[in-house]
Amino acid sequence: MEARSQLRHRPTFQPTSSVYYKLMDRETAWSIVCEHIQSESLRKHALAVETCMRAAARNLGGDEDTWGVTGLLHDFDWEIHPTLDEHPMKGEPILEARGVSAEIRRAILSHAEYSGVPRVSLMERALFACDELAGFLTAVSYVKPGRSIHEVDVASVRKKMKDKAFARAVKREDIVNGAAELGVDLDRHIDFCIGAMRANAEALGLAGMVTQGEKRE
Ligand SMILES: [Fe+2]
Ligand SMILES: [Fe+2]
Repeated sequence: MEARSQLRHRPTFQPTSSVYYKLMDRETAWSIVCEHIQSESLRKHALAVETCMRAAARNLGGDEDTWGVTGLLHDFDWEIHPTLDEHPMKGEPILEARGVSAEIRRAILSHAEYSGVPRVSLMERALFACDELAGFLTAVSYVKPGRSIHEVDVASVRKKMKDKAFARAVKREDIVNGAAELGVDLDRHIDFCIGAMRANAEALGLAGMVTQGEKRE
């Protein structure tokens, strides 16, 4: 028994190995999120951005796991670095120490306008386009009678975007600029992210009272 348990705990890969990056991705990323984020709503935000990023990767020809992990980790340090002079810049070395790739770390830095890291790659532009929008779609879901993403449509999102008192923390210009930077029509992008989040509504806590068979109109 002793020998078997030692074998189970023996590390198989070193952090410098590209194989290590590939195998650790989603599971390790989620454990990093759970280690650093206690807030249920912030964890749900991480999952929502991951969901939109995975869908965007499938749509735009990106690597789904890489884009998904980037979305999952993008705000991992917000609770330990809750100010704009720290987040996400001070989180970046932590991710490096955990073996997160330079591509993902750079994208995470670029989601903050003030980081000085410009968005260059398609994945970086997608992250910016999905981040605030995913948060906003969650907020719109919460004010629907059934508190579900299935009740959200483009028109209701557009209407709430004009309502300055609603979800004040979400920067409308980031939503608009994000779609523009990605080169997609804003309404189509909103609709796309609604669809992505509907498909993962259960995990995002946005399924409401709607049953499986009633999800799509
Ligand atoms: Fe952030
Ligand atoms: Fe975010």
